[in-house]
Formats: sequence, structure tokens, C-alpha cells
Amino acid sequence: MPRSTPVPALAAPAARVHESLVLEPRDVRFDWAQLPLHWIPDEPVATHVINVLHLLLPEGERWFVKVFKEALPLIRDEQLREEVLGFIGQEAIHAEAHQEVLDHMLGQGLDPRPYVRQVSWLFRRVLGDKPGLSARRRRENVIERVAFIAAIEHFTAFLGDWALNSPGLDRAKADPTMLDLLRWHGAEEVEHRSVAFDLLVHLDPGYLRRLRGMLVSGPLLVHLWVRGARYLLAADPTLAGRLKPTWGEALRISRRGLLPSPGRSVRSGLRYLRPGYHPTQEGSSSQALGYLATSPAARAAAAHG
Ligand SMILES: [Fe+2]
Ligand SMILES: [Fe+2]
Repeated sequence: MPRSTPVPALAAPAARVHESLVLEPRDVRFDWAQLPLHWIPDEPVATHVINVLHLLLPEGERWFVKVFKEALPLIRDEQLREEVLGFIGQEAIHAEAHQEVLDHMLGQGLDPRPYVRQVSWLFRRVLGDKPGLSARRRRENVIERVAFIAAIEHFTAFLGDWALNSPGLDRAKADPTMLDLLRWHGAEEVEHRSVAFDLLVHLDPGYLRRLRGMLVSGPLLVHLWVRGARYLLAADPTLAGRLKPTWGEALRISRRGLLPSPGRSVRSGLRYLRPGYHPTQEGSSSQALGYLATSPAARAAAAHG
């Protein structure tokens, strides 16, 4: 049984969607024993471009959790605090679900660890908390990192919405367990898409911070994604470095519905910068909750929960 009440997202005013948010973590389990290395058959580039999610998310989402826990004492709104706690619970489970795919990849002879070590360094050292700051500078530092997360969450909701609306992956006979992971996670990203943004506005309603968050996070994500896809294609033992990803190839693959279109992704990033932007304008909560009501992993979690 889904634990949240479905709400009509696009047709409803943002305030009503906000009021209806009850975020509870779904303790899902996936069995990766049968997952092929190229889980979109004969599509190694599309497979590995999407696999970058597994490289980035365990460290990235653990970092979200850490930053949001640091932000909790700054929150002066009970409902928002509840939503942030729900967000923390969901992201902690997302991180572990993607970690299991990484472990499976290693067992298949593709070692993701060197790249993950770089990602870990970025999140822990560069974007981690800075000991020894004064109380005022520490607060500033937490809010700055919340701004980065709010911008990244815009993209995770964009990708989640894409995953929920990607019949190309079904046509290509992508592995059903991986599709469920992507759509379960994508649906929860759409479900909680407002939380980081609402937290940012609560802590600092100014436009400059939001702008800076996107100007840092957007290019950083593109950089990490391109490097991650190159890394996986080079480290794939069945490819022996024969395939090099290019933007032209990514465009062709996106036209077959196996990746989000690069142009749509950039336009989505620009929408975040509109003065009247709110995450409820993107994606559909009712579609997300509809998927969570039928997702094999989410249903099994509800049955055992
Ligand atoms: Fe997530
Ligand atoms: Fe998220």
C-alpha cells in the first residue's frame, strides 16, 4: 500500500501540494544477481551513461543527508522540518540501493572504485563541513551547500520525470529490475522535488544564492557525468576501450528515447533560474505516486513494512 496520498500535481495550486506532502522512506530491495553488464541490450553507451547515476549517487546522496542534518537546527517551520526528515530518510535508502549496483558491477569485472574515490573526495573534502568556523560563517556555509543541493535536486526531479516517461527503455528491453530501480528512485525524486528548494527559500529567500547554486552545480554535474561515462566505457572489460562517448552519439541515443535529450536538459536547468520558479511546476506528483503504487520493489517494501 502506498504510504502517501496521491495528489494532482499540475492541476493543483502549489500550496495544496505542499500541504499534502508526507514523505516516508520505502525500504526497497533489489536482486541484482541476473543483471547483465549491458542492461540495455546491445546499447553499451546508453547503459553506461545511465550507470553514471550509480557512481555519483551513493556519495552524493549521503552528502545530501549530512548537509540536511546540519541544516535541521536552522529550520523554524515544523512542517518543513518534517519534510526534511522525510527527505533524509528517502535519500539514505537511495544511496544504499545504488551502492548495491556498484558492488554488482565490481563482481562483473568493471571496477568503479577509482572514479568513486574521486567523487568521494569531492563531496567529503571540497563540499564537506569546514571545522573551526564561527557560528555565523558555519550557518552561511550550510545554506550555501543547501543551495547546491536545491539545484541538483532540480535535475534529479528532471531525470526522475524522464525515467517515468521513457517508453524507449521498455522498447529496448532494458532489464526490468533496473527499470524499477530507476523509476522508483525517479518517482521519489519527483515526490520530494520541492523540499530542498523550500528549505533554501526558508533559509535564504534571495535570488543570488539560488543563482550561485545552479551556476556551480549545473556545470559540475555535466563535468562529472561526462567523466563518469568515459570512465565506465574505458573500464568495461568487454569493450576494451573501443567506444568513446561523444555529444553527437548522446544526441542520437536520446532520439531513440534511451537518454534525456541534452537540449531539454539544458533548458530545464535554465527554467530553475526563472524568478517565479517553483519545483511543483515540473513533473507530476500524481504520476510519481501512481508509479510507486505499482512498483514491484515499492509494493514489496510496503508489504514487509
Ligand atoms: Fe535520491
Ligand atoms: Fe532527491
